[in-house]
Amino acid sequence: MNGFDSGIHARRRALFMEQLGAAAAVIPAAALATHHADCEWPFRQESDFFYLTGFDEPDAVALLLPHRPEGERYVLFVQPKDPAAEVWTGFRWGTEGAVERYGADLAHPLDQLSEKLPEYLAGAEAIAFRVGRHTSVESMVLSAWGRQLDTYARTGTAALGLVAPTPILHRLRLRKEPHELERLREACRISSEAHELARSITRPGMNEAEVQAAMEAHFRSNGARGPAYGSIVAGGDNACVLHYTANTAPLQDGDLLLIDAGCSLEDYYNGDITRTFPVNGRFTAEQRELYSVVLEAQEAAVAVVAPGGTAEAVHDTALRILVEGLVDLGLLIGDVNGIIERGDYRHLYMHRTGHWLGLDVHDVGAYRLGEQPAPLEPGMVLTVEPGLYVSDRLSVPEGQPEIDDRWKGIGIRIEDDVAVTETGHEVLTAGALKSVAAMER
Ligand code: GLY
Ligand code: MN
Ligand code: MN
Repeated sequence: MNGFDSGIHARRRALFMEQLGAAAAVIPAAALATHHADCEWPFRQESDFFYLTGFDEPDAVALLLPHRPEGERYVLFVQPKDPAAEVWTGFRWGTEGAVERYGADLAHPLDQLSEKLPEYLAGAEAIAFRVGRHTSVESMVLSAWGRQLDTYARTGTAALGLVAPTPILHRLRLRKEPHELERLREACRISSEAHELARSITRPGMNEAEVQAAMEAHFRSNGARGPAYGSIVAGGDNACVLHYTANTAPLQDGDLLLIDAGCSLEDYYNGDITRTFPVNGRFTAEQRELYSVVLEAQEAAVAVVAPGGTAEAVHDTALRILVEGLVDLGLLIGDVNGIIERGDYRHLYMHRTGHWLGLDVHDVGAYRLGEQPAPLEPGMVLTVEPGLYVSDRLSVPEGQPEIDDRWKGIGIRIEDDVAVTETGHEVLTAGALKSVAAMER
């Protein structure tokens, strides 16, 4: 179990405020989201808010106020203690807990935000707020700023503008601290075990849902909140639907099973793993050929993860090997460079090779810095997930061969989570096997 450490969040707030300069930041928590009627989805905190506060309740707002004196720089607005409400929806930390456990300098009930916001924002050079996401807090921020502008003649102070807190925050979140790498290792460990479990129980005639249930039971019984995203358990041709999450089909003898699933921990760090293996324990010749191409592409792409490399180079490395393999198998024809330049492979490989991973599964952070791809640095974590998807859904580009039926219904992806280290990389998901031999029994 992950113990709460308020120092971790305090250090992040200090770094964030250092870069904010004299701007005041307003960072809202997530609200509960309606599922249907008066039922709500399980609560999921806003990752930026969680990163800075560690506070895991809905309906809260954090103010970070570098322009205020020491002892008034971190203010939390939260749901106050209310025994009658807590009987229905559970424990709240209240304003006392916000100060004592979560380290706020000051805390108030959320319903005082609109009244108190103007005084806290007074004197800040700018207001850092992410517009467009939190309409009720946004209207309070705009109204407080509007009031400053209306009274400027008398006060001589008003914020010069609204600025975005997210570029600063997302630069911080992109490079993981040692503590975060530990948590990602844990999420990846549990997720890897679930993949090993899935392969060990899968037999022809089982339903995709049974495999999903076993994996998600493993997540929960090992302390995770549950799946980090809708688990994809896709037998046969279902694997060619990239976001297939129905998971309701029986598993057929002779098909592959593609599973893209990972857990989310109590503090929201995620695993994101894909493995593909034969339902009956033996690849067909075509499945083995394509699996070997994807595996070679994936391992080569993982190998270029290192400081100074780029996510773009990871993609380019995987893509070249996929295309070379498809040409060797006769699924594409022509010169490899030309196929890549024209995009003539996209009916078989239609997604990028990875994304940042952290508190969000598709984590924040820029992939490009203007014209240049962002260089990889120690502490960054990314997925490496090439695949091939052979189906009739997309038309074959002009000049490329029609696909023989023996290849159709084969969808393969192999996805690992990889941390950039000082000297190279660490595969966080190495516990989930992927060799051809390991996929067979
Ligand atoms: N599971 C989502 C992804 O692989 O990006
Ligand atoms: Mn992924
Ligand atoms: Mn995935």
